[in-house]
Amino acid sequence: LITYTASVLVFGGKITVNKTTISQVHKYVDQEVKIGAWIANKRSSGKIAFLQLRDGTGFIQGVIVKEDVAEELFQTAKSITQESSVYVSGVVQKDERSPLGYELLVKGIEVLHQSVDYPITPKEHGTEFLMDNRHLWLRSRRQHAVMKIRNEIIRATYEFFNEQGFAKVDPPILTGSAPEGTTELFATKYFDEDAFLSQSGQLYMEASAMALGKVFSFGPTFRAEKSKTRRHLIEFWMIEPEMAFVEFEENLEVQEQYVSYIVQSVLKNCTIELKTLGRDTSKLENIKAPFPRISYDDAIKFLNEKGFDDIKWGDDFGAPHETAIAEHYDKPVFITKYPTSLKPFYMQPDAEREDVVLCADLIAPEGYGEIIGGSERIHNYDLLKQRIEEHKLPLESYQWYLDLRKYGSVPHSGFGLGLERTVAWISGVEHVRESIPFPRLLNRLYP
Ligand code: 4AD
Repeated sequence: LITYTASVLVFGGKITVNKTTISQVHKYVDQEVKIGAWIANKRSSGKIAFLQLRDGTGFIQGVIVKEDVAEELFQTAKSITQESSVYVSGVVQKDERSPLGYELLVKGIEVLHQSVDYPITPKEHGTEFLMDNRHLWLRSRRQHAVMKIRNEIIRATYEFFNEQGFAKVDPPILTGSAPEGTTELFATKYFDEDAFLSQSGQLYMEASAMALGKVFSFGPTFRAEKSKTRRHLIEFWMIEPEMAFVEFEENLEVQEQYVSYIVQSVLKNCTIELKTLGRDTSKLENIKAPFPRISYDDAIKFLNEKGFDDIKWGDDFGAPHETAIAEHYDKPVFITKYPTSLKPFYMQPDAEREDVVLCADLIAPEGYGEIIGGSERIHNYDLLKQRIEEHKLPLESYQWYLDLRKYGSVPHSGFGLGLERTVAWISGVEHVRESIPFPRLLNRLYP
């Protein structure tokens, strides 16, 4: 029987202490609290034991001094194993040295489940081993911090777009058409028809923008890319805003405002996590709109001047090229107006130059690569139809998409931000596999 009365807990009829979580201990300085937790780590000598406790909301150190407690409690603390689950009670004390700012002077431990031979010990482990144990690795302090930052970016995304008057719309995952080219599709059967897992919700978001004006989506996307790099996942999450009556330059302004907003939100609300990860926050503080812009033409010239002779006009950038451009700035940089031949069928040509389109990729600083791809979309029926044919896409699958240009077509623009690359950049983790709970990689479908 568990009954809550105000903040005091009655446990089995016996009044005990305030039941709380690690993130809330600041409310109980010098008071006794009770917390459900796991033993993340333990150190002990003959006279004192230190328990690293975690409860999902954070980490706190529990201290047990032998001469101050009953012998039985000290022995429990000494013998408890890593990842055992406990109810621990103790007095909250200020501690300037700990990242949280508090520690717990432990008065009681109730072991709920004794864990045996937890595979991830405090020693160094190889990446493959950690990935095989991803379901447990998530509990580590570092992975916990990355997941909290991911969560904050998602929270700030909803906040930003809600404040800006966007409606959240959910495009389908099972689709009949392919926005980003046909080579990286996951095909599946849809009863008797062929279907694909969504590569991007964009086409559906365009239809939704014609109904609701300003819309955004947040959902999983699938790309059967045979790339094994630190930036590529097979399944990743994308935020895709789409806006009616918004043209190329206005689209860039929304992007720089949005990216600034999420970076500043993480700085404000994830101080402990950024500290845990050792993130150099001075590299994030100046991430505020406006962001610099460089045209594709100028980017090619810049690279050639820097000594890259492996790239000429008409080629796509590789990771080293993007990194060289990004290193020239201390903020994310837009590379604008790529050659038409490099980009998907739906992008609006530049009115002054037919050979480039009104698109931009946003490149993150510090070598994290492209985090956003976006563009103004073609709104003329005949041109769009022509492009679908030039790209040898099946016209019948795009009839509904062409309809949007038949009935009150308007200039419109949108973009897609890759969540995992953004999490990796803001957290400062090297590889996107650490920025999603259960990564799907070229050779990994488990756990
Ligand atoms: O540039 P992409 O392919 O753009 C689109 O899909 C557009 N339809 C979006 C739109 O305009 N609505 O992808 C957008 C972003 C990239 O900038 C990158 O951050 C991320 O999605 N991304 C990946 N992230 C992880 N693994 C992959 N394999 C990724 N491919 C793209």
